Amino acid sequence: MRTPILAANWKMHKTVAEAEEFLNAFLPSLPADGEPEVVICPPYTALAPVVELCKGGPVRVAAQNMHEERSGAYTGEVSAPMLLELGVQGVVLGHSERRKLFGETDEALARKVPAALAAGLEPILCVGEDEGQRDADETAAILTRQIDADLADVPGEDLERVVIAYEPVWAIGTGRTASPEQAQEAAALIRERLAARDSSAAERVRILYGGSVKPENASELMRQPDADGALVGGASLEAQDFAAIVRAAGSE
Ligand code: 13P
Repeated sequence: MRTPILAANWKMHKTVAEAEEFLNAFLPSLPADGEPEVVICPPYTALAPVVELCKGGPVRVAAQNMHEERSGAYTGEVSAPMLLELGVQGVVLGHSERRKLFGETDEALARKVPAALAAGLEPILCVGEDEGQRDADETAAILTRQIDADLADVPGEDLERVVIAYEPVWAIGTGRTASPEQAQEAAALIRERLAARDSSAAERVRILYGGSVKPENASELMRQPDADGALVGGASLEAQDFAAIVRAAGSE
């Protein structure tokens, strides 16, 4: 009932030439029926050419971050209207690399998520615990805190317009994928938390898993009842690998 989403987070990878090379190999390999939904998140510099190459097809394009204000004295930042002008349709917010390396806070995210929604961009909000927090049995508390804080100013009925990505920090780029049970447990907890605000929106919200997703483990992760797709880093950089992950999700 929820259409799965497979999103490629390219992080700080791919020049325009490399992005074009990827799409020339990847786009022809997509299933014809448009299911699952596919989103590519290139670096800012490749957004416009990727939008151009994906035009008229099923693939959507999202940015990897955005400032909450529409314009202003914020050197180095990019706003929702700037992304929309390029034909971008979504934006990743709160990725753990932004939280950890660039000081992204829950307070800023509480403004960014509604700003993205108001502009008509689909936010992909990332949440997840680090290794120390999991070891200390704090996973549920961390997820609850992030979900509550980051979505505090999104009205209950709008929650279904947000995509959530559960990305345990210890699984990102480490090859240590969460087990299907761990992914399911976290996704169920997130859905339950959203249900406390709006039960029908919570039923419709897509919850992705991210962290060392590969062609070999994608289908088992996707088979979990509360996992509605994946946010893929490393394995989304190779057209063959990402196409295999999309096919794995489509067969579930
Ligand atoms: P990897 O797939 O490389 O572990 O990265 C996951 C991620 O951070 C996606 O946003």
